[in-house]
Amino acid sequence: MDRNLALELVRVTEAAALACGRWVGKGDKDAADAAAVDAMRRTLETVGINGTVVIGEGEMDEAPMLYIGEKVGNGSLAEVDIAVDPLEGTSICAKGMNGSIATIALAPKGGFLHAPDMYMEKIAVGPTARGAIDINAPPAVNLKRVAEAKGCRVEDLTVVILDRPRHDKTVKELRKAGARIHLISDGDVAPAIAAAVEGSGVDLLMGIGGAPEGVLAATALRCMGGDMQARLVFLNQEERDRARAMGIDDFDRIYRAEDLARGEVVFAATGVTNGDLLRGVRYFAGGAATHSIVMRSRSRTVRFIEARHYFDFKPGLDAQLSSRRGGPAHEGN
Ligand code: FBP
Repeated sequence: MDRNLALELVRVTEAAALACGRWVGKGDKDAADAAAVDAMRRTLETVGINGTVVIGEGEMDEAPMLYIGEKVGNGSLAEVDIAVDPLEGTSICAKGMNGSIATIALAPKGGFLHAPDMYMEKIAVGPTARGAIDINAPPAVNLKRVAEAKGCRVEDLTVVILDRPRHDKTVKELRKAGARIHLISDGDVAPAIAAAVEGSGVDLLMGIGGAPEGVLAATALRCMGGDMQARLVFLNQEERDRARAMGIDDFDRIYRAEDLARGEVVFAATGVTNGDLLRGVRYFAGGAATHSIVMRSRSRTVRFIEARHYFDFKPGLDAQLSSRRGGPAHEGN
């Protein structure tokens, strides 16, 4: 896969973040999501790929853009599969709370698990704790093994977990074992990645969240040498039937990051609101600053990109605010 694609992808997540960044705290998660989807879709048209969305905004009849099966890209270069979440954490964006991101991932054709829109149990850690996790083991055992691998005490570990009643038992066990816990209201992709960033303050992501989000997190962890185990959680027969129709027949399978995102993969994300991994979009007169992460599994280079965008020089980017009152010099896309 062309190495420049990674940097092309940052432009895509930046555009999505800049668009939904306008909706932070406005209480309208659908409008925020629509803005991100629209910007991401438009920017993807300029990227040199022949892409098929395999994880997106839903089935063709549910989503006008970035639906599963939609072809995106300018048709050149590699045939790739695409996983997107133009706004991961719609509610937190609408409430102006921490942790929403715009994200995209690329894999060779057939590389992503076609994860149905259902729940997935996940445990994710960074490279230093690779090999130490076991989704079948109790939380206390995982904590002990991760602490050993990281050369610290269980009390030093911070576990991020979605604040849901379904996690009450796990949270109780984590507390009893002595770990620090960060309960989040939404958005479990960014914390899974943060677990692989030294100094982020996150050591593990645990618990049940969305399956598509699990594939995106796995792609990022593959690029960072992190570790993840996951298992689909079926709420009813209808979900089993849907999974079967998407080619999944082993309902108890434990997936590793390498099973969720295979081959040479690329991942990019831009912060919408502040979080443990990325800073959110910050606007200033005539422009905005974004903070992104981009990486490839092949080189394992992890780039954090702080960008400043000047609307006067990108008319499509923020038509509303484009002032033409002499913004700073153009610094490129
Ligand atoms: P959005 O669809 O609003 O972006 O929410 C995303 C999310 O919080 C994921 O990060 C998480 O995996 C999932 O939803 C959790 O689902 P639920 O809210 O049903 O517990």
